[in-house]
Formats: sequence, structure tokens, C-alpha cells
Amino acid sequence: MADFDLVVLGAGSGGYAAALRAAQLGYSVAMIEKDQVGGTCLHRGCIPTKAILHAAEIADAARHGAEFGVHATIDRIDLAGVLAYADATVARLHKGLSGLIRSREITVISGEGRLLPAEQTDQPPRVAVGDRVITGRHLVLASGSEPRSLPGLEIDGHRVITSDHALRLETLPRSAIVLGGGVIGVEYASAWRSFGVEVTVVEALPRLLPNEEPELSAGLERAFRKRRITALTGAPMAEVEVGDDRVRLTLSTGRAVEADLLLVAVGRGPRSDGLGYEDAGVALDRGFVRVSERLAASTPNTYAVGDLVAGLQLAHRGFAHGIFVAEEIAAAEGRSDRAPVPVRDRDVPRVTYSDPEVASVGLGEEAARAEYGDAVTISYDLAGNGRSQILRTAGTVKLVRAPDGPVVGVHLLGARVGELIGEAQLITAWEAHPEDVAAAIHAHPTQTEALGEAHLALAGKPLHVHG
Ligand code: NAI
Repeated sequence: MADFDLVVLGAGSGGYAAALRAAQLGYSVAMIEKDQVGGTCLHRGCIPTKAILHAAEIADAARHGAEFGVHATIDRIDLAGVLAYADATVARLHKGLSGLIRSREITVISGEGRLLPAEQTDQPPRVAVGDRVITGRHLVLASGSEPRSLPGLEIDGHRVITSDHALRLETLPRSAIVLGGGVIGVEYASAWRSFGVEVTVVEALPRLLPNEEPELSAGLERAFRKRRITALTGAPMAEVEVGDDRVRLTLSTGRAVEADLLLVAVGRGPRSDGLGYEDAGVALDRGFVRVSERLAASTPNTYAVGDLVAGLQLAHRGFAHGIFVAEEIAAAEGRSDRAPVPVRDRDVPRVTYSDPEVASVGLGEEAARAEYGDAVTISYDLAGNGRSQILRTAGTVKLVRAPDGPVVGVHLLGARVGELIGEAQLITAWEAHPEDVAAAIHAHPTQTEALGEAHLALAGKPLHVHG
């Protein structure tokens, strides 16, 4: 006999989604958490950083108000005030989530869980929390990820920091180097620049956001140049020297940059060390839990979700994984009549909330060519979109289509385009053809019209396009 139907190790996006859905399906659930329910996304990631980026947008609106006939001056950026607003947002959401978890009668166990090896076959998975041992008929590993550093680069939390420390800064630096031009690097560079910090982004690969379409990276770099954010791309870091009040970073090319602060944003690694996974026989691959397409780990009745599974490290992928696992267990036990559809990374939308925003779903041009032998693409410039002109944003909509087939990728750059990703993902998920989308009437003037017009153009009947 096990104590619970389901034990979930970690109460972040993946873990709590599994717990909530399993409870809804009538299972008894325990969720083990050493910190607070909500995990990285709620407390140190998505939510506070987007709040900071919203404050950054307000600063920019004030700074550029005169261009719109609204004259304003910024007295000062009160970082403590910005962070208090971010904290209050987190606190409100945390309260709501805690209430939801209580109302579903999920048992939250506080403390660090450690997986115990099975003493005999057929024994249900066991997790130790302090002196207590909790057993579950099923176990979901959801211990998430943490910021990575580079060999020889010591994170001291003062001069050399990660995104965790960035949320606890007492004052804004005058200048900062951001190491890594991925999502975290680009978002912090954008927010800090809006607050008046001199920012240099250092990216080893030839362009910012190297996982996005090259045109979007180029457009983002152009916008960043205008905002006087320096991007040094195409050379990795070679050395960092930390002085009393300065940091000096030297690139492999010999070029050096100096600033008050260095933010290390070179990726996040899985949090699987020291949690007993390997001793319990859970197969790992570079620290990620090895799972089947259906998220089953190598040991019986054990699943892994979210950042612990190699692939996109995004909260909404974690939610989808968690829901999938709960429904998978229910389907296997006859509690629901249909087995859930596995989560594919290519269907997961991606948004970088910098100014301008970058958002995409589905395949890029190169991946589509590899998959379909060829691809048809079109880029629609936001210069032709009324709403974007009102907002004064430059940007683009790039569509990727399988030859004579559906639209398989939508890639967006521009202010607020993250909000367009919902329609974009319906297009790719429902395998719409350009004609299907072109037939839908888009409200004028909205930015969604740009999606409509891009599909009109791809369907061979462009409206607001020359030629
Ligand atoms: P990332 O993998 O997106 O970017 C790290 C970047 O650092 C890469 O472009 C890499 O080429 C570069 N890099 C690595 N070593 C380097 C070196 N020695 N010198 C110079 N550059 C180097 O990782 P990031 O930005 O740390 O984010 C971690 C995860 O968190 C990502 O998977 C991201 O998707 C997720 N996240 C998502 C957000 C969103 O959806 N809006 C926001 C923040 C994070």
C-alpha cells in the first residue's frame, strides 16, 4: 500500500500542474517542495521578470512621450520600487495558487525530497523528506532547473550574478555586461537599458537569440543598436577579472569590456544532483532525466516533467507535461477514456519579452526544408500595419509553409507581438493553409491584421503590399 496515489517532487510549473490535474481526476496527491509552491517561474523567472519589463516599458513611454506630444521627464528609477511591484505581483499569484492547491486537497510537504532506492521489486516509489518516508503509487519528478555558470567563472552574487540575484539588486549598476545573448540575456539587457544602464551583451554564437530565425535576430540587433545596447556576437568569453568595483571580461578575440556588473545568462541546467535519482536507478543524460515520448522515466511508475526533461525550458511546456502525466496515469487505470497526446516541443510557443518582442511557434525555415525537402516563406513588414505604425514599432511577420501544404512556422518581431502568438499557434497546430487564414477577417487596426495580411500574401493575394 502506498500513502498517496501520486507523489510529486517539486511544486514548480510542471509539478503543480501534474498535482492539480491528478487531484481533479480523483487521485490523492502529495507534493514535496523545499521552497514555495510556484517554483522558478512564479518566484524568480517569468512573473517577476515580466513585471520588471513592464516597468521598463513605462520608463520608455515616459522618456519618449514627447514624440507623441506628451512631455514628461523621469526623476529617477527607484529599483526598490520596481522590485516591490514585482514582488507584490508574485505574492498575489502565489496566494491564488496556494488557495487552489488547498481547495483540491493536495497535501503539500515542506522540505527537500530525496528519492530512495527500491528495496524489493514491485515496491512503490519512495521519497524521504527529513525523517519521513512518503510512498506513492506513482511518482512525478519535477525538480526543475537552475542557472548554469562556466568553468572558472565564480558567481559571487555581487559583481558576478545570475538572474536569481538580479531580482535582489539594491541599486542599478551604471553599466553591465550580460554574458549570453539567449532569452534571459536579451530580456535583462532590454529592461536594464530602459532603466538607463549602459549594457553590453556578449554572445558566443554569431547572433542574439540564436535559436530564432536569422531575420528576427538581425531585426532585434538593429533595434538594440538604436537603443544603444551593444551586442558583441561571434566570440565566446575567454577570461573574467573581478576587481573591487569593476568587472573586466575578455573575449577569445582579445577584445575586452568593463562594467560595474556581470550577469551570467549562459543557460540553465537540470536540478537532479544529490536528489538520489541515480541511486534509485533513474537513468540520466547530462543531468536530464531520460524519458520516453510519454515522459516515463527508466524506473517503474516514475515520470519526469518540465525543465528536468531535455528540450525547451519553458513554464507552459512544464504545465503541458504535468497535465499529460496525470492524464496518462488516469488513462492507464481506466479513469479517463482517452490516452493524452504527447507534448511535442515544436508545438510549444516561444516568446522573448524584450523591446521589441520576439515570438515564434513551429518550424524555422531551415528545419522545414530539412523536414519537407523544401519550404515557402514570406516576410511581411510591420511598416504596412496601421497599429504597429501607431505604436511606432518596426518588425516583421515571417511565415514558413510546407510546399503546397500547411503553414508550419510563424515567426514574429515587434512591440507586443508576443500577444499574437495565440493565433499563430492555432494556425500551426491546426495545420491551416494560407487560404484558410486569409479568409478570416482581422479587426482593423490591430497587429493581428499583420498575420492576416501575411497569409493573404502567401495565398497569392496581397492587399497592402506593393507589386
Ligand atoms: P539560453 O540557452 O537561451 O541562452 C544562453 C546563451 O548563452 C546562448 O545563446 C549561448 O550561445 C550563450 N553562451 C554560452 N556560453 C557562452 C560563452 N562562453 N560566451 C558567450 N556566450 C555564451 O539560456 P538563458 O538565456 O540563460 O535562459 C535559460 C532558459 O530559461 C532558456 O531555456 C529560456 O528559454 C528560459 N527562459 C525563458 C524565458 C521566456 O520564455 N521569455 C525568459 C527567461 C528564460
